[in-house]
Amino acid sequence: MTALPLADGSTGGVIVTGGGSGIGAAVCRQLAAEGSTVGVLDRNPAAAEQIAEEVGGVALIANVADSAALAAEVQRGAELLGGLRGLVNNAGIGNLKGFESYTDAEINLIFAVNFSGTYSAIRAAAPLMRASGAGGSIVNVASVSGVRPTRGEAPYSAAKAAVISLSQAAALELAPQIRVNSVSPGFIRTPLNEVLAGDDHMRSQIEHGTPLERLGTAEEVSELIVFLLSDRSAYLTGQNLVLDGGSLLNSAQMDSVLGTMLDLYS
Ligand code: NAI
Repeated sequence: MTALPLADGSTGGVIVTGGGSGIGAAVCRQLAAEGSTVGVLDRNPAAAEQIAEEVGGVALIANVADSAALAAEVQRGAELLGGLRGLVNNAGIGNLKGFESYTDAEINLIFAVNFSGTYSAIRAAAPLMRASGAGGSIVNVASVSGVRPTRGEAPYSAAKAAVISLSQAAALELAPQIRVNSVSPGFIRTPLNEVLAGDDHMRSQIEHGTPLERLGTAEEVSELIVFLLSDRSAYLTGQNLVLDGGSLLNSAQMDSVLGTMLDLYS
């Protein structure tokens, strides 16, 4: 594996939102291992500081739903990292409830974090990336739920579908200097879904519905994200890459598993 190649002439590091846990923390670790400097952005200061210390990066603290605070931290991060050449919009939240049970506040919060947080970070980062040299790469973490809605996750599924569409719109408008892609993971074992993954019955149902017969790992998602950040994917933009062990091929079976989950956990 080569060190993370920088675009010709570009300098700077990579900011990872939601970098304090799960997939985001795995991305920070892999970036650092491949020689990139990392800004670990999270709303949880202790988590951001812990991962930043571990990877020799900088901690950036913001709620991605607060666009002014987010833009200020992205700017500060670019200054601390000597420029910006990559951004991973990974911070995300969901909920599991029946369609008619969602309140306006819950729907708005899910969109504010998953969709608006991604938009705001791209808007803040793009001029900084152009200023850093040859350009940059942005990766947005969507979900298989954004490709095929998940029972019990209507606002989350719609927000992730919006992230996929936003990624394509940004790829179109920010080219040729900046590439933008999204990644749509299936079931990945992280603190986000430990309540399901830690339940033996639910886990075996999910495994049964997944052709590769297991949940994915945060490290497997970070491999794909770091590939998309690097020049190894220099001709790839505007794509949504699904990393789900094949679960989307088994939609009917997974829908029944997700129906059970909704009954048990909502
Ligand atoms: P996680 O819960 O382990 O980590 C999420 C991190 O984001 C936490 O450190 C949290 O503090 C931070 N965060 C949450 N809201 C924030 C906000 N408003 N501002 C700043 N930071 C915030 O979650 P995980 O599993 O690592 O998920 C990462 C991304 O992957 C999310 O966008 C999630 O929707 C997506 N995803 C996860 C899947 C899974 O199975 N774990 C499957 C598909 C997508």
